[in-house]
Amino acid sequence: MQKVTVQRSPFGRLADGAQVDAFTLELAGAARVRVSAYGGAVLSILVPDRDGRMGDVVLGFDTLDGYVADDSYQGALIGRSGNRIARGRFALDGHEYSLRINNGPNHLHGGPEGFHKRLWDAEEVRTAEGAGVRLRLTSPDGDQGYPGTVDATVTYLLTEQGALRVEYDAVTDAPTPVNLTQHTYWNLSADPRRDILGHRLRLDADRITPVDAELIPTGELMPVAGTPFDFAAPQSIGARVDGDDEQLRHAGGYDHNFVLRGAGGGLAMAARVHEPESGRVLEVHTTQPGIQFYSGNFLDGSIVGKQGIAYGRRTGLCLEPQGFPDAPNHPGFPSTILRPGERYSSLIVYRFAVE
Ligand code: GLA
Repeated sequence: MQKVTVQRSPFGRLADGAQVDAFTLELAGAARVRVSAYGGAVLSILVPDRDGRMGDVVLGFDTLDGYVADDSYQGALIGRSGNRIARGRFALDGHEYSLRINNGPNHLHGGPEGFHKRLWDAEEVRTAEGAGVRLRLTSPDGDQGYPGTVDATVTYLLTEQGALRVEYDAVTDAPTPVNLTQHTYWNLSADPRRDILGHRLRLDADRITPVDAELIPTGELMPVAGTPFDFAAPQSIGARVDGDDEQLRHAGGYDHNFVLRGAGGGLAMAARVHEPESGRVLEVHTTQPGIQFYSGNFLDGSIVGKQGIAYGRRTGLCLEPQGFPDAPNHPGFPSTILRPGERYSSLIVYRFAVE
């Protein structure tokens, strides 16, 4: 008998009157996940601590308005392209394209009206593995400057084992970058008044793609051994985050793409996070070649989130499985270009445990 339940409920209305629904996916005692059709955002994830107490381990807002106004990508489903494209420019098959600029001189996370600011079509789904919500979006030719019409489908599925799967699928009618990810901010203590510096992180990566002062990759791959970026064995995030290191200075902490050892060769573990006080553990598995680890450096208390709590610096961390940032401008990076007749497919699996 299947135990995962899905409940659809109204979440709010957009300025144009459109109703936005949210879907609550629940496996009693193991996980309760709420997803919004607006932005495909993860609104909340409740999982138990080592004493069985459920707590919400993601940052976000109590109401739809919070997500509409937000520019920190809370919970967001990111597209067409995660992270930055330098100057919003790239060349493809001899054509030059200019994307909308929304981060200094650069294009970030699909642009100001990227996939995180769209109302997706949503329906409940049930499979042999679990149940959840399937979201669909058509991104028209020229959307945010990108060529071609892209049809994207993203399924959030809570499995009968209590894992959250995010399955991405996209097709296009013209060559275009497609690099979809998920931008949930995690705080496994379930108390976002506290920072994430005591969380212990393991990353299955030996290299990062180092960046310049605008956080654009230089194109090199930098070995992490002996640097503050070495998370091969679990380290607390705070131990070296303010170390004397050029890469940390550029980003004000961690905000870097790690080159995964599995590097796109099927589903592999990318990251494991352990919060020692609650005992909660998060594992992130992905089919992608990279993962952006962002230590919430830009949070500065100006965002007031759930229950009126202001999110201070480093009170949430993001682990964004992805193709490498600015890949369309780096022939040496794995390609993020999708062509007609091909199918983009990507999978993230979040597993929860206690230790
Ligand atoms: C990503 C970027 C960061 C920042 C956050 C959102 O992680 O790499 O620089 O833009 O998103 O604030």
